[in-house]
Amino acid sequence: MKTEERLEIEGLRGRRFLAGTVKVGGAKNAVLKMMSATILFADRVKMTNVPEIEDVRRTAELLVDLGAEVSFSGDHTCDIDTTNLTKTVITPEISKKLRASIVLTGPLLARFGRVSFPHPGGCVIGRRPIDLFLAGFEALGANVTLKNDLYEIKAKNGQLIGAEIFFKNQSVTATETFLLAGVLAKGKTVLKNCALEPEIISLGEYLKKCGAKISGLGTTTIEIEGGARLHAKGKIYHTIPDRIEAGSFLILATLAGKDVTIADCEPKHLTAVIDFLREAGAEIIVGQNFLRVINRKKPKLIASDLKTHEYPGFPTDLQAPMSVFLTQAVGQSFIFETIFEGRLGHLESLEQMGAKVKLLDAHRAIINGPNELHSRELFSPDLRAGLAYIIAGLVAKGRTTVHNVGYIDRGYENIEGKLTALGAKIKRIHLENETICHFSSEN
Ligand code: EPU
Repeated sequence: MKTEERLEIEGLRGRRFLAGTVKVGGAKNAVLKMMSATILFADRVKMTNVPEIEDVRRTAELLVDLGAEVSFSGDHTCDIDTTNLTKTVITPEISKKLRASIVLTGPLLARFGRVSFPHPGGCVIGRRPIDLFLAGFEALGANVTLKNDLYEIKAKNGQLIGAEIFFKNQSVTATETFLLAGVLAKGKTVLKNCALEPEIISLGEYLKKCGAKISGLGTTTIEIEGGARLHAKGKIYHTIPDRIEAGSFLILATLAGKDVTIADCEPKHLTAVIDFLREAGAEIIVGQNFLRVINRKKPKLIASDLKTHEYPGFPTDLQAPMSVFLTQAVGQSFIFETIFEGRLGHLESLEQMGAKVKLLDAHRAIINGPNELHSRELFSPDLRAGLAYIIAGLVAKGRTTVHNVGYIDRGYENIEGKLTALGAKIKRIHLENETICHFSSEN
């Protein structure tokens, strides 16, 4: 992780200044799962609209370590061939940095009858248990043991047997892992209380095109009839737009935009976010595949209560950026983070910048606004809070420094380049030699 880099941001002091078009990339949380799914294929899979982000590179490293051939071309395209893959131990060094690595376990176990992996890492935003996975493996007839910090999962006679699995919590990665496992399990697998995120549907739809027998995508019950390995036969997986990146730009545009268009996005995946912002006073034009915010004069933003929820509710991944918005809204807002218990840490930093924040417990907080934010030196605790700090820095008065940029690079491609194109003054600095990589134009 490139934690040695920092971003320096010149604040706009609440002015609506940014203008132009920003393009949204492919969804991190879609493409990472599709990369894992290539293990189910007997031929090469081509993916397009693949974002150039750290988590994609790490997943590629994991696949290469397992024996896959992975190649990237400069136009956001990636080819993966898992034909010669034989290894079933997921490398702890990389996997511990990446929660999405858990999704590799489903297809590896289904194809080879065994898999070993450490407790996966990822952003430190709560406990992030894996009990649903272990229970699911056992339901499919596998034996689970823990030896030297490695989970070893072995299917009886090397073959998973389809079964009914009820997820006691709706989990994105658990739904994906068992969707993939079911494709090569013997007989029917029925998944109940599944997550409904669009990234899961896009994954399942592609698998269906390539021969998988799946029904119920986008509902809480998914049925999979197991069969043989899938064949892409040249069919391309096109990564859906990243709704979290789009939502982050939308929040920024309402706070600091004069006329900003967010292009190449899927507005229907952002209904909860658009509705929330509109109710709080933002004016948003919704197009077929774009969003536009025009702030001719400074709009009056009104406090609103924010409760995160599984899709199609308000995404937890946009709670941190939206809390920056709430510091600029008039009145008292209540934040209820229902998914993760460690995801309000950024509020302390916003408080240090001048926001009026009261933390009630690990899940709930109150923000009273509006308050002018002042520049600070900030340390990203995770990817989404890091983006929230960039937004806060742009809204604030003075120059804000954001450290731990490596976290932000995990999920956002060339963030400073995209924001510079809108007129933001944001530059990346290497701490080792203080070389400035990106300079924004004067505003
Ligand atoms: N949970 C369990 N047991 C499990 C797994 C999950 O109790 O075995 C609980 C979690 O503790 C949490 C809830 O279930 O309370 C939902 O978590 P989920 O499993 O859905 O989260 P995840 O699959 O680990 C994905 C995204 C996250 C995103 C969440 C929620 C990936 C790689 N990660 O995580 O994305 O916040 O869904 O939408 O898809 C990010 O991109 O920054 C990020 C953290």
